[in-house]
Amino acid sequence: MAEPQFPPGFFWGAATSAYQIEGGVDLDGRGRSIWDTFCERPGAVKNNDDGRIACDHRRRMREDVALMSELGLTAYRFSVAWPRVQPTGSGAVRESGLDFYRALVDELLARDIEPFLTLYHWDLPQPLEDAGGWPRRDTAARFADYAAVVAAALGDRVQHWSTVNEPWCASMLGYCSGVHAPGVVDPGAAIAAAHHLLLGHGLSVAALRAALADDAKIGITLNPYPVVAAGPTAADRDIARRVDGVANRLWYDPLLRGEYPDDVLEDFRSVSDLAHIRDGDLAEISRPLDEIGINYYRRHHVRFGQGASSAPPWSTWPGSPDVELVRTETPVTAMGWAVEPDGLVETLVALVNDYDPPPVYIHENGSAYDDHPGPQGRVVDVDRRAFLAGHVRACLRAVEAGVDLRGYFVWSLLDNFEWAEGYSRRFGLVRVEPDTLRRTPKASARWYSALAGGDATVLAKVQP
Ligand code: FCB
Repeated sequence: MAEPQFPPGFFWGAATSAYQIEGGVDLDGRGRSIWDTFCERPGAVKNNDDGRIACDHRRRMREDVALMSELGLTAYRFSVAWPRVQPTGSGAVRESGLDFYRALVDELLARDIEPFLTLYHWDLPQPLEDAGGWPRRDTAARFADYAAVVAAALGDRVQHWSTVNEPWCASMLGYCSGVHAPGVVDPGAAIAAAHHLLLGHGLSVAALRAALADDAKIGITLNPYPVVAAGPTAADRDIARRVDGVANRLWYDPLLRGEYPDDVLEDFRSVSDLAHIRDGDLAEISRPLDEIGINYYRRHHVRFGQGASSAPPWSTWPGSPDVELVRTETPVTAMGWAVEPDGLVETLVALVNDYDPPPVYIHENGSAYDDHPGPQGRVVDVDRRAFLAGHVRACLRAVEAGVDLRGYFVWSLLDNFEWAEGYSRRFGLVRVEPDTLRRTPKASARWYSALAGGDATVLAKVQP
């Protein structure tokens, strides 16, 4: 039997996001984002780390693109910092900010690396948060304006556009559990934020269509995962249904079917009158897409917890008491996340079976490990290499099962600012020395480079 293969033209890339790598927060007249503010809140981020310097990518961009080229990556997924382009989130545009992204894209294209641009990877301009943030409807309209600005500047050289990265995180972690910026704990606000992120997506799709060439590819990036009921009772099954509802169906259903799942809306009614959902919104949200990005890290095993709290059951992070996240026997990464490549196959197959999605890309997949340089300065991250091999094999199984998968991006190119975990969690293919910021490709980067160069035999050489 012939070996399963990735389709011709399959992209092998790495992903990053603006706040996590750029630094240079005072350059280009950049405005403040909610992450600048959140990082100043004592204890909000581990070690009180922040993104002021991060990987200093704003200054070292050419060096970083050269590194991608040396590694033979054929694609790069990055995000544009809204406050670098529009410091207050509306109105005045900074050409100097746009120039940075123009230069980045030109550098990528000159080296035959396909740019995949994400418009929103969580760095909302602070003035928009001060005016109400994502729980406020107006933010969706401001986002569409910003999308139009970026499209006018970069539409001639970027073909792949993603509107929003992981709206689940932006809404639920940002406004419900409060572990991410802006650090609000208000379930009703989180539900409104979720809707306005979707609406902002839909309005920005329209703005992008109006500004971009006909062959531009427009999509969104979600982080779905299989939810497993880790207990035998009806209450366990109901918790699994609720978590699945908020993790998966809350996004897929409006985007790909133009409707919200009834059971999820019912769950929401205990904390929201849902008045933020207006006639016509779902038609905006479900505008046709050309591609969809999937970020996959792990399955969620959940059961009913015994806590008596009234905390909303859709906030699995840091775990409302009635949702218990169960640890399985499976090995975990430094994030404590179980390594479950089969969950990636399940995620992709479920998407294709339950919906009628456009072509799919893995926009993020990767792992944090507590890796350190050895005596020769090399980082031999065999665990990350095994993680990647297992998940790339999972992608092949999904392709065999009929998923139209077009590319795979490792999270992340560089060790970087891992949100609430600060610099304590390292996801990079490339090590970034904390003091000097010197870049050193890890063993996983060398391995991935061979794969990106077309040598599929390296997959078989790494066993799970
Ligand atoms: C995803 C985020 C990305 C990174 C990885 C580990 O949820 O999109 O920025 O933090 O997790």
